[in-house]
Amino acid sequence: MRLSRYFLPVLKETPADAQIVSHRYMLRAGMIKQASAGIYSWLPLGYKVLKKIENIVHEEQQKAGHIPMLMPTLQSADLWRESGRYDDYGQEMLRITDRHDRDMLYGPTNEELITDIFRSYVRSYKDLPLTLYHIQWKFRDEIRPRFGVMRGREFLMKDGYNFDLTKEEALHAYNRHLVSYLRSYERMGLQAIPMRADGGPIGGDYTHEFLVLAETGESEVFYDSEITDLTFGDRAVDFDNVAECQAVLEEFTSRYARTDETHDEALFNEIPEERRRTARGIEVGQIFYFGTKYSEAMGANVQTADGQQVPVHMGSHGIGVSRLLGAIIEASHDDKGIIWPEGVTPFHVGIVNLRQGDAETDAACQAIYDSLTALGLEPLYDDRDERAGGKFATMDLIGLPWRITVGPRGLKNGVVELTSRRTGESEEMPAEDAVKRIVAIYENV
Ligand SMILES: Nc1ncnc2c1ncn2[C@@H]1O[C@H](COP(=O)(O)OP(=O)(O)O)[C@@H](O)[C@H]1O
Ligand SMILES: [Mg+2]
Repeated sequence: MRLSRYFLPVLKETPADAQIVSHRYMLRAGMIKQASAGIYSWLPLGYKVLKKIENIVHEEQQKAGHIPMLMPTLQSADLWRESGRYDDYGQEMLRITDRHDRDMLYGPTNEELITDIFRSYVRSYKDLPLTLYHIQWKFRDEIRPRFGVMRGREFLMKDGYNFDLTKEEALHAYNRHLVSYLRSYERMGLQAIPMRADGGPIGGDYTHEFLVLAETGESEVFYDSEITDLTFGDRAVDFDNVAECQAVLEEFTSRYARTDETHDEALFNEIPEERRRTARGIEVGQIFYFGTKYSEAMGANVQTADGQQVPVHMGSHGIGVSRLLGAIIEASHDDKGIIWPEGVTPFHVGIVNLRQGDAETDAACQAIYDSLTALGLEPLYDDRDERAGGKFATMDLIGLPWRITVGPRGLKNGVVELTSRRTGESEEMPAEDAVKRIVAIYENV
């Protein structure tokens, strides 16, 4: 992409109403525009990152054996009356009446709809286990939408639902989700810590929230500092192996890590004092086993091997896809702007032409652009007729992790400059070497 032809409405001024850094940078970098309270248009740059995040979620879910589909945003109230949640949900649910006076709603989540799909088609234990998921817009009429995409009213969520014959099998599905979530967040450059969460009215131990540590997080969290040393990495996991998935769960959840909702001071104080940490966190996902709550209420039964009808065991598992943009920026920025992790960056590398219109410099930039593109990478070429300072400021603000700077002086010596956004360090090298370095960096992302 050439910046002269792109749509990147960068703001010079810091928007007054944005309280936290991710919101400010998303507005300033031309990623989002508020359409109304808690509802945003995704401008091209923001949309690109959103798609990258979605893509990682899709890939990791499918590796875990979970099946993608798509359910609508608008749902009929009748299903929610069956589960009893139509009245329980309260004001957060956006209720709509169609021209025939039918009660509809903009889905805040999809347990009812997916359970209805399941019961319409699945009759036998032989069709289990089954995990279906989708990535779809949700609406919750939050009283106080704030912090940009962090707490929106309309937001994009991955929500997945497992259907299993027994509690044991459903807990294996729970573990599969935990494993795939750990991997997904790490690919986005994030450390998201599974913390024991509140089971709500259903109770039970089987829910974890994933929290990214950040001062601006809405949850207060308490944890054993040893937990931040854990990384999942790119280890191969056999998602059908029950013991292997259970071992990952134990590895990542055996140390103390809880939100304020489940915090237990006495237990916390059993950790050596130097390892006790109190901090704030952003919830970027939650996994949940809830047994037969919906299957019993809605008659989602299957026939067992010996001919009995039993309600299926279910769980639901969510990732806050649009919130993740904010969380990543909160975790990775400096005073000049965003610093995208390689896994989610909207463009792989920026090319800055220091003397637009100079035939040799233009040709060198074009050659780098063409080689990178031919190798399957996406550069953003700043080919505008602007001062170098302005071009650097834009690149720093939008946060591409790598920049290649091309100017007449370097070209005379046969070099361009490769700069890391994260460290600020620059190296001079021939253009072909800069291209090779970029290729190598993204080979393992
Ligand atoms: N208002 C919102 N704006 C953006 N993302 C949200 C919002 N509400 C929830 N999410 C994201 O969706 C994920 C799954 O939602 P869920 O756990 O049902 O939400 P909650 O914990 O707020 O009830 C959350 O972990 C969070 O990342
Ligand atoms: Mg939650």
